Amino acid sequence: MEKLLIKGGNSLSGTICCSGAKNAALPMIASTILCDEKVTLKNLPYLQDITTMFELLGSMGADILLDENMNFTISSFALKDTEARYELVKTMRASILVLGPLIAKYGKARIALPGGCAIGSRPVNYHLDALKQMGAKIELRNGYIEASAKELLGTNIRFEGITVTGTENIMMAATLAKGETVISNAAREPEIIDLANMLTSMGAKIIGAGSDTITVNGVNSLNGTDFDIPADRIEAGTYLVAAAVTKGNIKVEGINPDRLMKVIDKLKNTGAEIEMTNDSISISMTQDYPEPVDITTAPFPEFPTDMQAQFSVINAISKGTANIYETVFENRFMHILELNRMGCDIQVNGNHAIIKGVESIYGAEVMATDLRASASLIIAGLCAQGETVVDRIYHIDRGYERIEEKLNYLGANIVRLPS
Ligand code: EPU
Repeated sequence: MEKLLIKGGNSLSGTICCSGAKNAALPMIASTILCDEKVTLKNLPYLQDITTMFELLGSMGADILLDENMNFTISSFALKDTEARYELVKTMRASILVLGPLIAKYGKARIALPGGCAIGSRPVNYHLDALKQMGAKIELRNGYIEASAKELLGTNIRFEGITVTGTENIMMAATLAKGETVISNAAREPEIIDLANMLTSMGAKIIGAGSDTITVNGVNSLNGTDFDIPADRIEAGTYLVAAAVTKGNIKVEGINPDRLMKVIDKLKNTGAEIEMTNDSISISMTQDYPEPVDITTAPFPEFPTDMQAQFSVINAISKGTANIYETVFENRFMHILELNRMGCDIQVNGNHAIIKGVESIYGAEVMATDLRASASLIIAGLCAQGETVVDRIYHIDRGYERIEEKLNYLGANIVRLPS
């Protein structure tokens, strides 16, 4: 397995550009199943999860072409198969995003039931309950979700808890359902708005995306489109934190700060200076030690769970004590044990981490357990004394495009060690 060797202590400076957002791109690729024509997607990030989603569509019979400008043209309108096999689903839970489009377009789907993962049990009951309310017949058999519907019918759906991919799945399914679907307690993440914008460009009738109530009026068919994947707000936030812990000074381009407001507010509370334009965020950290910041994760517009692990590192080298409450996933503190091996002083009680800032942390051999945990270990390596080796970095390659190249461009010293 490849590893990253990080020599800590370099301050980051310079300008980098955000890649396309993984969590916007995955539902957009799935949505190509809904339409009757080709779809061209631009600015797709080069990531393992994107490759897996293409592999999944390819296994069902989609044609995927890459042109000289790195744009992907996807023809998913004549699939031969409507099954997502366990081999693919077990490597990427977001495979569940093909469920809504498949039932809406083909009237059937057989999708391996995703199991638990490193950050929590992550059931898909909200997705399935909502599809049942739209008239789908759903059975669980031999580890698979077997779904069928002659026709999906618009109805009022209230999600019991807020779910990002659940909202996306039902919004996609509703575009081809008969009549009006009203989704309440919907997720409000920017990626929901991005998907609604893409579906609208395909001819879907959607209002309210970005609020907690989304109304979709079903249409008979959807057309093709050309669509740009928006920038990855979590990637941007991760680089801003990397600059903050290395007393750096960087500018991240291509990102609308409105998508990251809670993270920016917390960075300001650490003592960092932030400047923003419509599509860039600059950070400069001049304090020797950041101020500690308390964090409670929650769905958008609150502080994102996907930035919690990175903020654990800022707090770990701060001049005080901070509390982090993780309210979205039940097991998202796996990075803490590894951070403590680097000299951090963090105690975890259930969903509460108490982080006491230490004067310095040191390099160690550590193991990545999930995507954002890996990002936090790399960030810790950047501000640690000596060398850090991060193992199992396939997790990072699922969600950060060329991370070591981008960080090295800003002055980091990271080498990818072959397996
Ligand atoms: N939940 C249920 N039942 C459901 C669906 C969700 O109980 O049917 C629970 C989950 O177990 C969790 C909470 O509801 O406790 C929220 O889960 P959600 O469904 O919103 O998460 P997701 O859609 O599976 C997406 C992102 C995650 C991100 C979360 C929260 C994608 C592909 N994934 O996951 O991204 O953490 O929303 O914002 O969009 C990552 O990029 O590292 C990542 C994990």
